Amino acid sequence: MPLVYQTYPLKSDSPHTVCLHLPTLAATQAVANLLATWLQAGDTLALQGEMGSGKTTWVAALVQALQLPHTAGSPTYTLVHEYVPSRREANNTLAVWHSDWYRLEPAGAQALWHEGLAWQDETEGVLVVEWPQRAQLPLQAWTLCLALAPLPALGDEARSLTLTQPLQPRPWPEWPVSCRVVNEETP
Ligand SMILES: Nc1ncnc2c1ncn2[C@@H]1O[C@H](COP(=O)(O)OP(=O)(O)O)[C@@H](O)[C@H]1O
Ligand SMILES: [Mg+2]
Repeated sequence: MPLVYQTYPLKSDSPHTVCLHLPTLAATQAVANLLATWLQAGDTLALQGEMGSGKTTWVAALVQALQLPHTAGSPTYTLVHEYVPSRREANNTLAVWHSDWYRLEPAGAQALWHEGLAWQDETEGVLVVEWPQRAQLPLQAWTLCLALAPLPALGDEARSLTLTQPLQPRPWPEWPVSCRVVNEETP
């Protein structure tokens, strides 16, 4: 079955929102591969969705797409995982700072946010946060918001992925030719 993505306009305050339909885990990996080429150092990613929706799985796919020498796991207890290229010069790839704020109060989450920004001052990398809402930051703190949701009627692996750029939208990557674009919101 070819990967089929659907995009449609959402009624939101966001200037740039796209919703993708991911029928399988392979589709999640494919989108991570595409976004890995689109991301820039300094980007901040807010990953939303209920427990088990696939946030950590998406981060693992991103870490794999960036060819970082790690397998991403859940940072619920360690709070932060850093994935850095083994040989920065040779790799010329982004590092990933991955945090999960599920168990944190706003003050704790905000402290980690500042830690992440300090890390980014020294590292060519992106911040990726699960449960970003815990810090109660303004939406504009995030370059890209990704909201995952299961689509149980369509199978165990089916997910919707809503991508939003709250701030200074950049053109989206070229979605694969197998994309079936139903409709698209222009910025
Ligand atoms: N299309 C998909 N995208 C992401 N995860 C998927 C998909 N299909 C099945 N899964 C499975 O769903 C589970 C998601 O778990 P996890 O990534 O830990 O969720 P979260 O971090 O949102 O709590 C994993 O077991 C993963 O293999
Ligand atoms: Mg998780």
